Amino acid sequence: MTFTTDALAGRVALITGGGSGIGFGIAKAFASTGARLVLTSRNAERLEGAVNELKGMGAEAIAVAADVRDPEAIDGAVQAAIDTYGTLDIVVANAAGNFVVPTAEMSANAWKTVVDIDLNGTFHCAKAAYVALKGSKFGGRFLAISTTRALEGWPGCAHAGAAKAGIMSLMRTLCCEWGKDGIRCNTIAPGPIGDTEGVKRLYEDSGRKELELSSIPLGEFGKTSDIANAAVFLCSDAGAYITGADIVVDGGRSRSRSSAGVMAAAR
Ligand code: HXC
Ligand code: NAP
Repeated sequence: MTFTTDALAGRVALITGGGSGIGFGIAKAFASTGARLVLTSRNAERLEGAVNELKGMGAEAIAVAADVRDPEAIDGAVQAAIDTYGTLDIVVANAAGNFVVPTAEMSANAWKTVVDIDLNGTFHCAKAAYVALKGSKFGGRFLAISTTRALEGWPGCAHAGAAKAGIMSLMRTLCCEWGKDGIRCNTIAPGPIGDTEGVKRLYEDSGRKELELSSIPLGEFGKTSDIANAAVFLCSDAGAYITGADIVVDGGRSRSRSSAGVMAAAR
């Protein structure tokens, strides 16, 4: 146990994409620190499995199937949180889609699909949750998941890079607009996290796993719990004075890539 079991006691958290990968890792960490959960994504069956696992940990959790591209569906997920628990204190906009395709070969719909899920989906979550987060007695938390690749240039993932950069901009605006309402708005930028769909699609399927590992100063992929620990910190009282931040949790990867020539020379 990294945090006390009451670090998020009394809070209700909604996590998009909460049934798999990093989102489910955050859900488990929130559950083990006292939060009640609403998990949402498209796949109802997978969500139910995740909710049952959280209940097995002794947590309260519900599943709401919703597509983040549909603002009314996201309004419904927020309403389900209020109807079930009477409050909503934390939203984690984690849902995303990504696949590798060179920009010159990317269809307009492929671009639109990823921007819709990642950027527009995050906007829909923010809009839907604002009134509830403003009413949180703990000070609302709106957390989004970005990536340092958004600002590096991301060959093969122009859609996701642009969408994640858009998310970072949106979050900075929300920080300024919603500070008066006590809502803290932050992003977490994970490096490559092992055993996730993201690493499978981007690095394992393309045979780039070893190359990617060699660019990480700590020498290994992160774990979903590494991202979850940052999320618990930001959403607990310990993170009360943090808003507008982008917390990089990447084993030093972005530092080594920004000095790639120096690193190669040193090896
Ligand atoms: C080229 C592709 C494609 C591919 C889909 N498309 N996959 N184009 N290469 N591999 C195109 C389709 O041809 C279509 O365009 C358009 O994208 C929409 O595809 P659909 O299948 O209709 O979309 P949808 O059913 O809405 O599914 C969304 C999805 C899918 C993003 C395409 O992969 C998905 O559901 N992903 C969710 C899980 C996921 O991606 N997890 C990884 C997150 S990792 P046309 O023109 O044919 O109509 C991440 C960052 C990781 O975000 C960071 C670093 C490690
Ligand atoms: P993942 O398991 O595929 O997570 C994506 C989640 O989003 C899934 O649970 C998926 O569930 C949900 N989702 C996708 N499209 C949706 C939609 N239209 N509406 C609602 N939910 C949708 O992949 P992951 O690797 O853990 O990624 C999680 C987050 O971390 C993403 O924001 C990703 O960009 C970010 N990230 C990951 C890494 C990494 O190394 N893995 C690195 C940097 C950033 P359904 O299919 O059920 O809808």
